[in-house]
Amino acid sequence: MMAAAARAGAGAGAGAVVALLLLTMIAMPPPAEAHLQIGAYNETCPQAEEVVLKEMTAMVGKSPDLAGAVLRLFSVDCFVGGCEASILLDSTADSTAEKDAPLNEGVGGYEAVDAIKAKLDGACPGVVSCADTLALAARDSIRLSKGPFIPLPTGRRDGNRSVAADVALNSPAPGATIADIIALFATKFNLTAKDVAVLSGAHTIGKARCSAVSPRLYNFGGQKGASDPTLDASYTATLRGECKPGDNATLVNLDPTTPTVFDTSYYALVAGKRGLLSTDAALLLDPTTKAYVSSQANATSPDQFFADFAASFVAMSKLGALTHHNGEIRQACSKINPPSSAGGAAAARSRRHLTATAGLLATLAVALVL
Ligand code: HEM
Ligand SMILES: *[C@@H]1O[C@H](CO)[C@@H](O)[C@H](O)[C@H]1NC(C)=O
Ligand SMILES: *[C@@H]1O[C@H](CO)[C@@H](O)[C@H](O)[C@H]1NC(C)=O
Ligand SMILES: *[C@@H]1O[C@H](CO)[C@@H](O)[C@H](O)[C@H]1NC(C)=O
Ligand SMILES: *[C@@H]1O[C@H](CO)[C@@H](O)[C@H](O)[C@H]1NC(C)=O
Ligand SMILES: *[C@@H]1O[C@H](CO)[C@@H](O)[C@H](O)[C@H]1NC(C)=O
Repeated sequence: MMAAAARAGAGAGAGAVVALLLLTMIAMPPPAEAHLQIGAYNETCPQAEEVVLKEMTAMVGKSPDLAGAVLRLFSVDCFVGGCEASILLDSTADSTAEKDAPLNEGVGGYEAVDAIKAKLDGACPGVVSCADTLALAARDSIRLSKGPFIPLPTGRRDGNRSVAADVALNSPAPGATIADIIALFATKFNLTAKDVAVLSGAHTIGKARCSAVSPRLYNFGGQKGASDPTLDASYTATLRGECKPGDNATLVNLDPTTPTVFDTSYYALVAGKRGLLSTDAALLLDPTTKAYVSSQANATSPDQFFADFAASFVAMSKLGALTHHNGEIRQACSKINPPSSAGGAAAARSRRHLTATAGLLATLAVALVL
């Protein structure tokens, strides 16, 4: 009698625990897709991050310019609708995509992402998103340029919106003031003025087209023969040699002292009126961004910049990330999946979730009977 009562009590207790588990299961999305996390592919594609590093190492070894291109490609993806690989989508008959927006004319590195994604799909078909492929490749651009290794949360899925008109609304304009940039980062990205100063440090590698520089070199402010007074005079002369009037296409190093090394020399340049872009020079015109530039301009170690950059880069990498049932794993990074396959993947996912829930229901029923 006592034993039976105890058993009934235990059964009811177990039933309550299972019911609680069941409620939790229904309320929560499948855990693997719930949010971005370090090593999201540990189980589904354990070699994913190695594959990306191996491919990036080979490609940057052959074409050093690729490091800067891929890092920028990632930032322009994240700033427009989040880090969901919308920058990689091609224009369609109905819609001009982000990559064909005027502001993105100088953006490159698309083929590198396609090549890495092909290797990933060879190793683990249909598992790694284009958004994570780009994010990890950008992370490796930094490491391969002697910058910090940044542990990067993954689990991003791919979006399906890429509209050229979104670009200007969400990007700093070429002639933007520092107040414009800080306001844009705050309102659209929840990033701080310090993040602006830190992330601008990415301009320690890579190149800009003369079209991005020439307005500072020739007829500045509409005045014949004038140049930007905030640009060092001898640097102006050097740049006029590299960028002749009307030449839009020639590329110049953003950081001519160490063009392929991810270091603090960008801040020394900006502090010395040698920031290449007007938006680099503008960092001196706000107290917060200026203080950061000064703090790094004479740095004897890159450690502080590396730690700051890692934190700001991870924050940027989480912008508008699609997880759980949002988005898809694109087959080709330049196209959204055909409707059937996209629906198929989503359906398969909810089937798995339902199966797990049904299993728990059965357990609950058994527990209640006992
Ligand atoms: C603060 C706002 C920013 C502005 C106004 C800005 C603007 C620019 C411009 C105008 C160029 C030259 C593009 C061309 O000639 O076509 C450029 C290049 C570049 N940007 Fe930024 N950028 C900003 C933030 C960032 C961020 C957050 C990153 C990455 C974390 C980044 C990484 C790069 C890199 C690596 C390049 C060189 C690209 C290459 O070598 O192909 N930029 N940026
Ligand atoms: C993946 O493995 C790494 C290294 O063991 C670990 O730090 C990380 O938390 C793991 N992530 C997941 C989602 O299991
Ligand atoms: C695009 O994604 C949205 C949100 O996930 C979804 O509602 C919509 O059906 C998708 N459109 C296409 C064409 O796949
Ligand atoms: C904005 O960023 C801060 C960290 O700087 C974070 O604590 C906060 O939750 C973010 N807000 C939103 C709405 O994401
Ligand atoms: C350079 O760009 C300007 C402004 O977009 C344009 O007017 C000019 O024709 C271009 N020059 C060349 C040589 O393409
Ligand atoms: C960096 O050091 C130089 C030489 O000591 C000094 O003239 C300059 O003001 C310093 N720059 C900053 C931004 O602290």
